[in-house]
Formats: sequence, structure tokens, C-alpha cells
Amino acid sequence: MRKILSGKKWDKVLDWDFNKPEVKWFVGGKLNITENCIDRHLATRAKQTAIIWDPNDPHSESQCLTYQQLHDQVCQVANMLKNQGVKKGDRVCIYMPMIPEVAYAMLACARIGAVHSTVFAGFSAGSLIDRINDAGCKIILTSDGSYRGEKKIDLKSIIDDAITKCPTIEKTIVFKHTGVRVSMKAGRDFWWHEQIEKASAHCEPEIMDAEDLLFILYTSGSTGKPKGMVHTIGGYMVFTAYTFQTVFQYQPGQVFWCTADVGWITGHSYILYGPLAAGATTVIFEGIPSWPDMGRFWHVAEKHRVNIFYTAPTAIRSLEKAPLSFVHQYDLQAIKILGTVGEPINEEAWHWYHEHIGRKKCPVVDTWWQTETGGIMISPIAHVTKLKPAFATLPLPGVQPAVMDESGKELATHGVEGRLTIKFPWPAMARTIYGDHQRFKDTYFSTFPGKYFTGDGCKRDDEGFYRITGRVDDIIIVSGHNMGTAEIESAIDEHSAVCETAVVGYPHDIKGQGIYAYVICYDTPHEEENLRSEIRDLVSKIIGPIAKPDKIQFVSGLPKTRSGKIMRRILRKVAEGEMHNLGDTSTLTDPTVVDEINTGAL
Ligand code: PRX
Repeated sequence: MRKILSGKKWDKVLDWDFNKPEVKWFVGGKLNITENCIDRHLATRAKQTAIIWDPNDPHSESQCLTYQQLHDQVCQVANMLKNQGVKKGDRVCIYMPMIPEVAYAMLACARIGAVHSTVFAGFSAGSLIDRINDAGCKIILTSDGSYRGEKKIDLKSIIDDAITKCPTIEKTIVFKHTGVRVSMKAGRDFWWHEQIEKASAHCEPEIMDAEDLLFILYTSGSTGKPKGMVHTIGGYMVFTAYTFQTVFQYQPGQVFWCTADVGWITGHSYILYGPLAAGATTVIFEGIPSWPDMGRFWHVAEKHRVNIFYTAPTAIRSLEKAPLSFVHQYDLQAIKILGTVGEPINEEAWHWYHEHIGRKKCPVVDTWWQTETGGIMISPIAHVTKLKPAFATLPLPGVQPAVMDESGKELATHGVEGRLTIKFPWPAMARTIYGDHQRFKDTYFSTFPGKYFTGDGCKRDDEGFYRITGRVDDIIIVSGHNMGTAEIESAIDEHSAVCETAVVGYPHDIKGQGIYAYVICYDTPHEEENLRSEIRDLVSKIIGPIAKPDKIQFVSGLPKTRSGKIMRRILRKVAEGEMHNLGDTSTLTDPTVVDEINTGAL
């Protein structure tokens, strides 16, 4: 009989030191994650559907791919990469829509030991350039275009813009998806369909060390450029499989749908690796929840008889605003478990989800985790943990949180509020920031020495249940997407009329947080609306449409301390509409600035 797994058992489970910081799981273990996610299942599940793909256009046919087909496709793409000179350890940028090929691409990298760096296809050329150059990617896998509801987006032309500033890129491989005309540079750009024909469907997996890199995924920092979080193979695989099965109580044969984009960690861990490691059927949905109408999610859920549905509070809040008839026209009886992720869920949204989508029968698992944690950390276990709306409830077995006060003391009792840290390693934790271990240490292990600092605030109530209250740094979460205010500020500052900018978040009904920008111009702007739209377009071009400010207030100065530090606390209060509750402003250089800002607040 064919040997299914070619790896080797680990010599030691864990080696760790949070002061360095250094964490190694399954030391000495050898494996290939694709063998665990695909080959291992072929003996029993070759004909079971691994991936259901539902396209943007509801009238187009969906596709069901069995584990055998997934295996063959992944091997072919792996060989295509090899034919293009990609080797173990090379970094591969993936900038693709939500189509099955994006899954093949990521898994194909893993098959040959290349490191994928998937970039959300809603990011613009500027964000791509930063990410490609930081990771030193050799090749880009992309497509001619993508769909977003009725709109078509030309992805290849964004790549063309970016690539001139990416010296490490040797080639691109372009999947034909929308059929839009693209320019192809001879010797640099290759069509996927032409290259794949030359690639065989047999590819021996590269045997990797448990601590070799699986992928780099960028997340915003509160200062500076995005951080390339490094995830390694063994621990990530074990933890995503464990959390997937535990939290969602996945049963063989069930259909699991996580609505995230694969460009985010949620897509990596719970569209691809976790479900596939568990031999599940996972849905890849290309569309958006609002097109052709607000019933699209429920249509897809009915069509594929989805059993476990996992989405973001921002989606729930926007769907909640639509008439209930959009929900009631579909049969959602197959849904057994609901999940949310990405930002705090408000009680109203929780109850709407529980009542109307879950028919008051399905547990809602509010899962707290991060790009850095790789997998779910604090969450109810479906049908096991008591539910408490707006609470992520309890740490999963093995996860050891500690709530800290600002002076660095652990608050060890119940009924406390403070900063959330984790005091013991878990297998899927990021090992470093690519190329900058010092930043990794400074960001996560220095605020509370010996502990991993999440950047989140939390409450632990009298029962020991956790409620995540939000970021305590300069990161804002807009529609579930993490964004550094500094990144948005520097994009706005690129406008020639702009002298200085400060960006803060404010509560937004649907997005959770909106982006509020205070902008100082060199000269008083005459056409404020024109300038606002120029600034929005610029941010969209530099970072991506998700970073466009919702509100732009032109001001003549910013509240600063005598040492020149912007007092963001005040700006946040004004943006929140709490003008009368500004607290101590005595340390400001020029308190009159605050009156002006208050008067002009939007
Ligand atoms: O502030 C927390 C919030 O999202 C942040 C992590 O964002 P990102 O790395 O993009 O990963 C999102 C998907 C895992 C966290 O620091 N967050 C995530 N889940 C929750 C949450 N806040 C409250 N409740 C949650 N369930």
C-alpha cells in the first residue's frame, strides 16, 4: 500500500522563551501540510467534495471539487511553479480573486515548500509594492481581473503598475477569469492556461521541517509599514485543525462556509487549512453579500445546504438593516452553527443573527483571534460553552490569557478589566515579523515582558467570561479590516495641498468603526468637497478602497502636547461626538485649537 504521509515524528513538542522571543513547536518534526490536507484523505474521501465554489454571478454554475480533483489541481499548479523556476523557500505573491485557483495556488506553494504571501485583491498598487518588496517575492500569481457584484476590477493592470517598483519579481502567471484585455510582457508575463498544460498532475511533496515557513501575511501596524507575520508549518496546521474541529464541532459530511476573503488570516485558517486538514467540505464564495440583492448569503447557504456559517459582525449589521423577507425566502434549516469573527459583535447584531439566521436553535460562536495568533483563541465551543451575547466567553483548552493593568500587574481575579495578554505559547502563534525580529519583540513582547501582548482591551466578568472591548493602540477595525491610522495618515499626506493629518476611528453603525481624518492644509481650501474627494481617491489608490476616510475635517491645527505629540484621545472624543467630555486639556500647547475642532466637527 502507498505510504500516505512522508514525514517524521517530532523529537520535542515545545521549546520556548518569550523574552527572546523564540517559540518552536514539534521540534525535529518533518511533514508536508498538503499531504495532511489532501493526500491523507484520498483513501477514504477521494470522491467527497473538498471545495464548493460559488461564483459572483448567481446565474453561473457553481463547482464542486472532490479531494481527488483538488489533489490533481494542486499538483499541476505546483509543477507549473517548478517549471517557472520556483524553489523551496522562495516567496510567491498571490493576488487573486476568490476562485478555486487561489486555493490551488496557496496549496501548490506549500506542496513545493515555497512561502506564499497572499495579498487581498482589494489592495491597490502601493500596498502591493510594500508587501512584495518586503517579502522579496520572486513571482506573482494573479488573474486578468475580478468581479465585485456588478463591477469588474482589472487586477493585472494593478500588477503592471506595481511591478515596475518591485525589483525582485521575475515573472507573473495570469489566470484568465473576466476576459478583460490585458497587456502581457513577453518573457515576464505568462498565461496560466498555457503553462498549466505543460504541467503534470503528479508532484511529490517537498518534505519540510515543522518550523519551516508556510506563509507570510501582512497586517497593519500602529506605526510604520505593515508587518509580515510569519507562520510556520507544523504548529499552524495542528492548531487550525484543532480549533476548527473544536469550536465548530465539525461532523464528517457537513458543509462549512467561512465568508472571509482568502487574503485575510480568516480565509487562510478557516477556508483552507483548518477545514481541509479536517477533511471537511469548504465553500469559496466569490460574490458579495449585497448583490444582486441582500439575500445573496442566504441564497448561497440554501443552495449548498450549508451547516456551519462563519462571518463578520459588519456583514451581519448590514444584512440586519435589510427587510427580513430576504432571509425568509430561503430555507436555512441546514444551518446548525453560526460564527462571527474580526471585531466585537454588539448585542443587537448577536440577537438578530441568533434569532433570524439561527432560528434560536444554533449556537453563535463569537471567536476572538488575530492574524498573529493564526487560529481561534477565545471562543465558545459550540454546544458546550454557555453563550453570552457579545462575549467571546472562554479561552480554548491550552490557551492561557492574562489580563494586565497599565502598570504591568496581572489582574488575577474575576470581575476585572485591562489589557489582554497570553502567557503561554500556542502552536499557531506567529514566530516573527519577516525580516524584523526586533519589531516583533518590541510590538508584542515588550509592553508586558514575558507575555504576548495582543493590543486588545478586555473585560473578564464575574464568571470568568471574556469580552473583547477593542484595540488599545492606533489600529482601527473598519468592516472587520485592521488598519493602522499612521498608514492612512501618510497616504493623505501625499496630497500636495496637505500639510499634516491625524486619523482616528469613530463608532459606525455598519462598519463598526469609521475613519475620521483631521487634515491641515497649507492654504485654506476653497473647494472643500473637491479636495475631500481628491483625498479619498488618493487613499484608495495608495492603499485601497477600504481605507478611504468616511469623514474629512479641515482644521488649522491639531491638539498637541508641549513635546509635540498629537493628543489623539481628544480627537477621538470629538469624532465620537463627545465634545463635552474631553478630559484634561491642560497639557496642550494651544487649547484654542480644540474649540475650533469642536465647532467644525462633522
Ligand atoms: O481587535 C481584535 C479584533 O480583530 C483584531 C485582529 O484583527 P486581524 O489580525 O485582522 O484578524 C481578524 C480575524 C481573526 C483583534 O486584535 N477581533 C477579532 N475577533 C474579534 C475581535 N474583537 C472582538 N471580538 C472578536 N471576536
